[in-house]
Amino acid sequence: MKIVVTGGLGFIGSHTVVELQNSGFEVVIIDNLSNASIKVLENIISITNQAPTFIKLDLKDKAKVQDFFRAHQDIKGVIHFAASKAVGESVENPLMYYENNINTLVYVLQELNKLEHSNFIFSSSCTVYGQADTMPITENAPIKPAESPYGNTKKIGENIIEDICKVTPDFKAIALRYFNPIGAHKSAKIGELPIGVPQNLVPYITQTGQGIREELSVFGNDYPTEDGTCIRDYIHVVDLAKAHVVALQRLLNDNNETNFEVFNLGTGTGSSVLQVIKSFERVSNKKLNYKIVDRRKGDVISAYADTTKANTVLGWTAESSLDDAMKSAWNWQQKL
Ligand code: UFG
Repeated sequence: MKIVVTGGLGFIGSHTVVELQNSGFEVVIIDNLSNASIKVLENIISITNQAPTFIKLDLKDKAKVQDFFRAHQDIKGVIHFAASKAVGESVENPLMYYENNINTLVYVLQELNKLEHSNFIFSSSCTVYGQADTMPITENAPIKPAESPYGNTKKIGENIIEDICKVTPDFKAIALRYFNPIGAHKSAKIGELPIGVPQNLVPYITQTGQGIREELSVFGNDYPTEDGTCIRDYIHVVDLAKAHVVALQRLLNDNNETNFEVFNLGTGTGSSVLQVIKSFERVSNKKLNYKIVDRRKGDVISAYADTTKANTVLGWTAESSLDDAMKSAWNWQQKL
């Protein structure tokens, strides 16, 4: 079965390609290499011993997207990762984010909608919940106004897909709301490749452990949490990747209850920034240099998932612990 993975050389995309191939799918990767290296393709092949088809294509080019889908009428589904994802950059350059994340989504959906099999998996984010009123966060929690253009593209993206599903019974989609993906494949052949100074906690920690960065800044220790630092739900990227395969199979087997479904993907456990640092220190046997600084603008205090729906309806559960994920992130950093 031929599956298209857009952004398939990125962090979550590459791990999902590996899991799809391990499950017997034929994978076609589309990536414009704007935030990924072509070397990732070789590394995927060396893990799975199977070569996915790779097409360098910028989804902003509507005519090329049309050509692609015309040439691949036998596609059974699309997993759509391709998007820009830096929150701060999106505040600086909103139009770029709306073009990269919304125009491209519309072009892909327009073409997929013409095919016989319209099965679509969308990369969404827990950012749609903002600071949720209660923890853990269920899929029924209210959607809050987005804090950034990036967050808004995830919210609007879900709305666009839902609107199509309402009027097109044959169109089936699942939006997966990720909490905080971290870690790397156990082979340490693929992982997160931040460009420049990492914005996210875990790559910043591992680069500091490696001596690439001098010191981690912990953004605030005066939050109303047990140790004063923010709480997140850190999920191993391989667990996350496996959830995409399960979601896709749900659509392919017509097991979906409605033609637009939403699932939280997290572990269900919240960890504070200091707990993540301690986990790093445990698995690496290193002391991490860090200092407490002011809060970062836009951070929510706490966000962790109620995973009941993913566990019971999707039949998927995250298996790795925080230490497992941190260990894999550290192995990957050392390999780099
Ligand atoms: N943090 C630090 N120091 C750093 C980096 C992060 O203390 O150098 C803290 C943050 O303040 C936060 C936690 O570590 O409390 C996690 O921060 P990340 O940047 O790793 O992750 P976020 O939860 O802020 O961001 C994630 C996704 C975004 C998404 C956002 C929405 O990476 O794509 O959730 O909630 F928009």
